[in-house]
Formats: sequence, structure tokens, C-alpha cells
Amino acid sequence: MCSIIGYYGKNLAAPILVKGLEKMEYRGYDSVGVATKSENKIMLKKGVGKVIQVNESVHLDDLPGISGIGHTRWATHGKVTDINAHPHTSNSGKIAIVHNGIIENYNELKEKLVSEGFKFQSETDTEVIANLIQQNFEKTSNVKQTMMETVSMLKGHYAFVVIFENGTLAAARFHEPLIVGVGKNSHYLSSDVLGFIERTDDAIYIDNEDFVLVDDTGLNIYNFDGTSVKHQITKVSKEFADVYKGDYAHFTLKEISEQPETILRAGNDTQIDEIVRHIEDSKTLYITGSGTSYNASRISKYLMSKFAKLKIEPIISSELPFAPDSIENDSTLVVISQSGESADILEAVQIARQSNAKILSIVNHLNSSLSQESDVVVGLNCGPEIGVAATKSFTSQLAILYKITDRLCNGCMKPDWNNVSKSVSKTLENHSQIKKLAKTLKDITDIYVLGRGLHFPIAKEAALKLKELTYIHAEGIPGGELKHGPLALMDENVFVIIINPDDSTYSDTLTSANEIKARGAKIIGISDKKSDIYDYWIEIPRIDESLYPLLEIIPIQLLAYYSALEKDTDPDYPRNLAKSVTVK
Ligand code: F6R
Repeated sequence: MCSIIGYYGKNLAAPILVKGLEKMEYRGYDSVGVATKSENKIMLKKGVGKVIQVNESVHLDDLPGISGIGHTRWATHGKVTDINAHPHTSNSGKIAIVHNGIIENYNELKEKLVSEGFKFQSETDTEVIANLIQQNFEKTSNVKQTMMETVSMLKGHYAFVVIFENGTLAAARFHEPLIVGVGKNSHYLSSDVLGFIERTDDAIYIDNEDFVLVDDTGLNIYNFDGTSVKHQITKVSKEFADVYKGDYAHFTLKEISEQPETILRAGNDTQIDEIVRHIEDSKTLYITGSGTSYNASRISKYLMSKFAKLKIEPIISSELPFAPDSIENDSTLVVISQSGESADILEAVQIARQSNAKILSIVNHLNSSLSQESDVVVGLNCGPEIGVAATKSFTSQLAILYKITDRLCNGCMKPDWNNVSKSVSKTLENHSQIKKLAKTLKDITDIYVLGRGLHFPIAKEAALKLKELTYIHAEGIPGGELKHGPLALMDENVFVIIINPDDSTYSDTLTSANEIKARGAKIIGISDKKSDIYDYWIEIPRIDESLYPLLEIIPIQLLAYYSALEKDTDPDYPRNLAKSVTVK
């Protein structure tokens, strides 16, 4: 998603902004730009492409001035073009803006501005904010007043940073992240702590519906109604500065490889005890998330019903707005999210709050918007996940769900976490076989993944990883549904991964595999038990029946990674995707 950044200090702004934007690349983007103030003028450069490419061609970091703003754009309104790239200036050229989010009423605002003589260059909703700010500023010449007036006119969700021609920065937050980095004689305004973590680890997490002004007098924070807000500086964990690939070719491979250790760090006992207490007291339980986090939430349905005899209903976050009444009054919503910033989960939380629901979150970014909105927070503690495809965060989410379930059933599961960690390490030893298989998959167009029971959510997650990283069409299917439709798709051009550990689902899944093989499709079996049906057998270690999901996703993460390399796609930054999906 779009990243915004601003700098006001004593050093040249542009190189600092470009570095900050590079650090936030993982969030996903298609174009980049920087604007600075020098000699009472706004100067601006931007273009389509990666930060490094655009910088090489137009020298973003050559812009003079000690205050400035920068942006990486993930297109929402308007195509990926130089003109649509941010920053955008107002008609007078005296104001420039970078923005993350969506302005829902931009059409009506634009029409009004056009009728008043304003001209627009781009197709973006952002340019509307720039011109509104110009119009409001021309009335009072007061930045604070201008911000109050402007935010009162905007609908949607946004975080933006504006630079005025005297260098003053103003930024506002409404349901999109905005963090201030506080350095020596300098301030940073950013979507993510990574935008400034190399320069300072002192951060102020701006609350929703607050705005910030930075000028020669320093930093001031206000509510949207203009009341001054006291701020608190938080030390950002240095862990989140540790975003280097080390010896690994890609973040994705590094993050897959970290799992034996990250699984052990998932959730701390106090947090888990607290979440368990709330779950035990709750009348009705729901669990929600998006993408991979939703796949994790589906596992909880199987675990909690089997071991804790509790009903929990998984809901896709983005679907909740269309069935808000499905949340009963005074119920409990467990929310799973790596980033804690996905717009869909934040909306789900708002909807649940209207039914007076308790919000219990399982999240990696402990200072995220989701954490702020939650009654209880359990941390994934898996460190920064930079690769766009969720890998280690998924297994950490599962580990926490196992730990919660185990507490709920008074220790009836007793997972041996050291053994799980060793088994994950063992599964990770299999690179050479998986690399070879990735070569075989290079030119195929369709992969299906089959699993039953607890393994069905893993089949869904496996298909998600494959499509994201390889752009091959992939689908996760519950084994029993095969004959109800998908069997029609099976022929010699198709590969089917069957998730088939030696547990209660084994023989039914093997029957499905036979039916598929009879139609000519190739079978990749992920199992601890060999079978002649498999054209390719990926062995996983034997483990307690309920814990297989933690192992069986690992070879598929590796397969998706190596297939991406074979297909020459970038596994860390798949096309069209963003790490933090902060727009609806
Ligand atoms: C898949 C993936 C996405 C995220 C989804 C939710 O690999 O990364 O599907 O899982 O966008 O993101 P969070 O967990 O940050 O809310």
C-alpha cells in the first residue's frame, strides 16, 4: 500500500526521505516521488518504478531543502503513470501533498472545486485534498485552522502529509497509520516506523482523528476539533530495525527459514492467560482475519470444537460489512492480523464494537491500529515480516491458537513445542527435492491443493501462497468436494497437491488422490507415509495428529518460493500486492 513520509530538521531532507521510502518498499507500490521546500518554493520529482530506478533516472535525492515529503504509490484512483504518482501540488504550486488511503467523497469535492475554477492534472483523489488545503489556507493563512477545516470536509480513510511553501509540515490521520519519529532537532512523519528507524527509535503513534504540525517551533498535535493533544514517546523495538536479508537471497526465504525459532516465541503466557479468561467468559465467539490470517482463523474452528468443546465462528473480515447482524450483542471477536493495519479487519472491529463486542487480538505489530482498538492483545513476536507473502506470521498465528486451545481444555493437548520446532527444522532441510519439483511446475497453469478437516485451511493457505508467489492459478479444495465439481477439471495437464498426513483423514484423502490419478493428473503427496499413488512424495516428520498443520505448510512455502525463482518473479514483492492492505 502507499507509504507516506515527511522530514523536518537540520539535514538535507531528500536523501533521508528516499532512504525511508526504500525501507518501506515491502508495503508494495508502483511509483515514487519526493517534494521539498527550498527558497520558499516547492520542488518536486516523481516517476513510475522502484525507488532505486526512479532515483537513478531523475535523482530524487538531489532536491535541495531541509524539509520535505515523499511517497510510494499503490494505485487506487487512476492508472500507474508519472502524473498520478505523488506528491501532488495544489493549483498555486504552493502546497504539495502525499496521501495513503481513499477519499470517498472526492468526486463531489472535485466537482465543487472545478466549478470554483480549480484545474486538475491527475486522476487521483489526492489532488482534491491539495486544492482544498490551498482554498482553506487562502481564507485564513493559518495552518491549524486549515487542517481543521479540511479534515471536516473529507470522507473515507486517510493519512496524509502536506508541505507548505515555507516548509511547514502538516499531517492528519483518519483510519490509516501515521507515526512521528522524534530525532535530535528533527521530526519524521511516516506510515511505518521503518521509514525512520535507522535515524531514531523514539516514536509517537498518532491517534485516529488527530493531526500534527511541524515547523520551527517544533511539534504540535491536535484533535480534529483543534484541542491540543499530549503526546507520549514510545521506544520502538530495535528488532523492527533488523530488516536485513543477511545471507539469504530474499526476505521470503529468510522468513520461511526462521520458523523453527519464531514458533517458540509466539505469544507470552500472561497475554495468553488473559485472552483465555475473556474467551471463557464470552457468550458467543467469532474469529476474523483476511487472507492468510483468515486461513489461520479457520484452524481454530477445528481445534476449539475438538479439544475445548467451544464453538467459534470464522468470518472473513471483508465480508462482515455485508452481514453486520451476524455479530450478536455482547459477544467476543478474536481478530488475527500480522500488520494490525488491514482496512478490512479494522472495519470488522468497528462493526463488532457496535454490538458491544470484546475485541481480542493476535497481532505482530504491537503498536498497530488494531492493538489500539483491542481489549486484549497477544503478540506474534515473530519479528518484522518483510516478504509480502505471509509465512512465519502464519505459523506463529497457528502456534498461538494451539496455545489458547490447550489452555481452554486445561492442558489436554500439551504440545511439545521443542519437538514441533525440531520437526519444522527437519521439514526445512528438504530444499533440493523442492527445487527440482519447482522446475517441473514452471510451465504448468493450474495447481489444486486438497485437504480434509484440519488440513483444509492448510490447502487454502497453500493455494494462496502458490498463486501469490508464482502467479499460477491455484485452488484449495476440501477433499470430499472433489466429486461435487472439481473432478471435472482433472486431466494430464494438472498437478494436485494432497495434504495427507497419517491421521484420521488419511484413507479418505488417499481415495480422492486415486480418483484424481485415474484422470491423468499428477499427484504431489505431502505426508509422513509413502504411497505409490504419489508421483512426488514430500516427506514430513511424524508428529502428534493435531499438530500436522504446523509442518505441512512449510514445504509448500518453499515450493512457492522456488517456483517464483523458476518463473523469474520477485518472491519478496509479488506484482499488484501490498504487505499492509490499508485500503478497502
Ligand atoms: C498472504 C498475505 C495476505 C495477508 C492479508 C492480511 O500471503 O500476506 O493475504 O495475510 O492481507 O494481512 P494482515 O495479516 O496484515 O491483516
